[in-house]
Amino acid sequence: MSEWQKTNWRNKPRVQMPDYLDQEALNAVESQLSNYPPLVFAGEARNLKAKLAAASRGEAFLLQGGDCAESFAQFSADGIRDTFKVMLQMAMVLTFGAKVPVIKVGRMAGQFAKPRSAPTETVDGVELPSYRGDIINDLDFTSEARIPDPSKMLQAYTQAAATLNLLRAFSTGGYADVHQVHSWTLGFTEGEKASRYREMAARISDALDFMSAAGLDSAVSHDLRTVDFYTSHEGLLLEYEEALTRLDSTSGNWLAGSGHMIWIGDRTRQTDGAHVEFCRGVLNPIGLKCGPTTSAEDLKVLMAKLNPENEAGRLTLIARFGAGSVGDHLPRLIKAVEEEGANVVWSCDPMHGNTIKSATGYKTRPFDSVLREVREFFEVHAAEGTIPGGVHFEMTGQDVTECTGGLYALSDEDLSSRYHTACDPRLNASQSLELAFLVAEELVKRRTDGAAVAAQ
Ligand code: PEP
Ligand code: CO
Repeated sequence: MSEWQKTNWRNKPRVQMPDYLDQEALNAVESQLSNYPPLVFAGEARNLKAKLAAASRGEAFLLQGGDCAESFAQFSADGIRDTFKVMLQMAMVLTFGAKVPVIKVGRMAGQFAKPRSAPTETVDGVELPSYRGDIINDLDFTSEARIPDPSKMLQAYTQAAATLNLLRAFSTGGYADVHQVHSWTLGFTEGEKASRYREMAARISDALDFMSAAGLDSAVSHDLRTVDFYTSHEGLLLEYEEALTRLDSTSGNWLAGSGHMIWIGDRTRQTDGAHVEFCRGVLNPIGLKCGPTTSAEDLKVLMAKLNPENEAGRLTLIARFGAGSVGDHLPRLIKAVEEEGANVVWSCDPMHGNTIKSATGYKTRPFDSVLREVREFFEVHAAEGTIPGGVHFEMTGQDVTECTGGLYALSDEDLSSRYHTACDPRLNASQSLELAFLVAEELVKRRTDGAAVAAQ
């Protein structure tokens, strides 16, 4: 293959990207961004890759989650804190069940661009270009607002930098100290899940007290008091990605400096398209969404392009088929992976195949469908003898009403109460935690089944 250059994607067919009208303004933004510092460093991306390599072997588990689309209007320290907090809680539940380290990756600090199923949107007979995320245009339904504006890339960069700064502070500044396990409670105060969480937190506290009394905690103090938290987003807007791509002087490889991990969406995974061309050349861990229309042949081509050295941790396949359809698609893709002897992390996105329109007109996701897809994902892996390595959720720490069902049995009528997403419906804090308990149960099952098989 010819030598990769960060601009080569420009010679490939592109989809889902805006046509900027003002070329000069676009050039000016790109050159400004090219001079800005990268948001992440190559060593961090490599550390994440090493952890994902462990997940591909079943020695760690990936928890990836956050907003469908980050918003300029809803940007706040509290929002970041609450999502971070719920992810810590979920990670604690998963670690406690699975007894393996949980790799925490936010859909945060860069998740601004959205692929759309239709290029235009019609309301009351008026047709306008679709909203494509705050990095591209505005949500307001006016023709002015829908014009792609390159200067939004600068605002996205600034928001991503500030978000990452706060996440880094939370991760290492005492907030994520496991001794705080009791104070991360959020989104639920009563009910069965809340008491299960409190019970688990009490057991963790007991263990910590014991370690401290026995003088055992000083050696692991750093690990108990800080977390590694990584960022990720769909690498959709390639002008932004290219402008933040930097040469890593220690390895001579290219780094997408916009986030630790970037993924390729279900609508942008054309084997000869611009997005695959860009992603194949950067050293970051790469995610690839796999949907019902992903063929085994294409998957093989994509794995060869995106991970020619078959490096473990480089490629995460994010399965998103929809509840009831996992059994129709996952086995054939697992077979393709096994035939190639490819190293991948299998992750489950139970959100994007389960979006429906509620009776009250809101786009929603029934919590039961989300649960069901997760269960099916685990069942197929158990049947195939392969490793379920992670989960990928759209969620928020805010107490929103966007997905129906869950512990508080949100109905179609409840959706209007706190429906804040600019894009897809997210799980709220309580639904996220509920899901974490379910995933933990599945992981415990796998651990105990595995132990039973080993003992035979
Ligand atoms: C997403 O993850 O926000 C998304 C659009 O997913 P997909 O590409 O799988 O539809
Ligand atoms: Co989404």
